[in-house]
Amino acid sequence: MDKNFLVVANWKANSVDLPKWFDELAISEKAPEIAIAPAYYQLGTLNSQLENYKFAINLAAQNVSSFPTGAFTGEISAQMLKDAGAKYCLIGHSERRKYLHETNDDINLKYEALTKENIIPIVCAQSFEEIPQDIFSQTSETGYVMFEPFEAISSDSRYKPESPENIAQTIVDWETKLPENIRFLYGGSVNPENCANIISFCPQLSGLVVGHASLDPITFGSVINLVLQNS
Ligand code: PGA
Repeated sequence: MDKNFLVVANWKANSVDLPKWFDELAISEKAPEIAIAPAYYQLGTLNSQLENYKFAINLAAQNVSSFPTGAFTGEISAQMLKDAGAKYCLIGHSERRKYLHETNDDINLKYEALTKENIIPIVCAQSFEEIPQDIFSQTSETGYVMFEPFEAISSDSRYKPESPENIAQTIVDWETKLPENIRFLYGGSVNPENCANIISFCPQLSGLVVGHASLDPITFGSVINLVLQNS
């Protein structure tokens, strides 16, 4: 397994009680890299709290505007995310593609906006066609792609996991078609019951994106500790 394994907690449009979440999170000192993606309004608070937290945890955003800073009402620009301390940003999440009709053209613009601010984009894709090819051919920087079939995303607190065999097959297929400098993540119903299996089936994975199971710090801590034990 990748020694720089990354686990992203995607809190989506959920409010998390930050002091309580951190009080209850029990992880080993040797934990893999963790990035928390809260709702926008919690980015700044979380950033100041993370400075005092005993382990290094990074900040991720769930989305970014394709517009720059300026007269774009309601938008959050890449520069603002940088100011709020984001190291990573998810783009093209399947929920945004489905409910907000985001396209690969939007994702290209977002990718460009983020890289200008030195924020690492994590491109989410359900199929190879959802990976905008030109963004990776233009750079020698490490790229991040998350495989996440929409059907595998938990809903109403129920997990609907993809089979580890299918995850492994997809990643191997994408790996052969994309430049070498891409790290692959998987997201969709990752939880303490299936994460060890996913990792062992798919040694090409460099990370996991955890939605529902990251809202409860005890469940998320179990995922982190299982990642560590299985690496
Ligand atoms: P889930 O969500 O773990 O709740 O399925 C993951 C995601 O959509 O990022």
